Amino acid sequence: MRSNDQDGSRVRDQLRAARRRLTQASIGRPALDAEVLLGHVMKRPREWLWAHDDRRLTASQARRFRLLLAQRSHRVPVAYLTGVKEFFGEPIRVNHRVLVPRPDTEVLVEAGLRFLHDHPGARDVIDLGTGSGAIAIAVARNCPRARVQALDTDERALRVARANVRARQVSGRVEVRRSDLFGRARPTDLVLANLPYLSAAALRRLPLDVRHEPKRALNGGADGLRLIRRALADAPRMLRPSGAMVIECDPRQARSVASLARSSFPGATIGVLADLSRRSRAVEVRL
Ligand SMILES: C[S@@+](CC[C@H](N)C(=O)[O-])C[C@H]1O[C@@H](n2cnc3c(N)ncnc32)[C@H](O)[C@@H]1O
Repeated sequence: MRSNDQDGSRVRDQLRAARRRLTQASIGRPALDAEVLLGHVMKRPREWLWAHDDRRLTASQARRFRLLLAQRSHRVPVAYLTGVKEFFGEPIRVNHRVLVPRPDTEVLVEAGLRFLHDHPGARDVIDLGTGSGAIAIAVARNCPRARVQALDTDERALRVARANVRARQVSGRVEVRRSDLFGRARPTDLVLANLPYLSAAALRRLPLDVRHEPKRALNGGADGLRLIRRALADAPRMLRPSGAMVIECDPRQARSVASLARSSFPGATIGVLADLSRRSRAVEVRL
């Protein structure tokens, strides 16, 4: 029988073995993923692991960690394994029914909050394609007067959004509702739209991690613009005078989206917003 010092149950040994395993599986950030997953198993932040690397895992923790590493090696996104993803500083619960919120989408929230700051009389917001509710929650938490209609066609995603809205304590100001695009939503001051925008060609070459995410959250039809086109065509009846709409898109679609926006709102100021990697990530329309 091996002595306790050599049984590999210490945090540092587990992390070393995990990094090796994830590297062999060609996972992009093996050290980070190993620490996030072990922190999740031990119910501690990553930083705690560094300061307590001689602590031992219980047999059950070691078993759970092995299971999570096996799933991560098969490219299941870390957020689906931990059940949570941070978005705009808020912990957002996720599962495989919803897209994992992306840091690039924070561009929409920033633009929305800027608009609300510049227009103190504006308070009504639509989060179109809400998924986990991430955008609606970020806006409501950062602008106390905002009232958000969070819309999505998918009832299973809406269940996740409702749970997040309750957990983040914004139920009084975020109404989560099933709707095909604007449907019967009330007119609004601001629309933040993160609809599916991948083209059929892009869907065929999805990175492995993204293949675990729901197709209907990604599929934007042949050229990727099917839903954005419909939303922009319908938007003039939804936006109040002096309103704004921000639409997330693929950097290669920004010019087409701007031109669709120009057709719907001929007199508006239309700009393109860059994401964290300085790619054109969203089109902003201000009436
Ligand atoms: C790219 S995901 C965005 C999710 C979320 N806003 C986020 O940033 O993580 C697109 C969402 O649009 C929803 N959706 C697809 N078609 C829709 C439609 N016709 N009307 C409303 N929502 C739709 C999908 O169910 C999915 O949740």
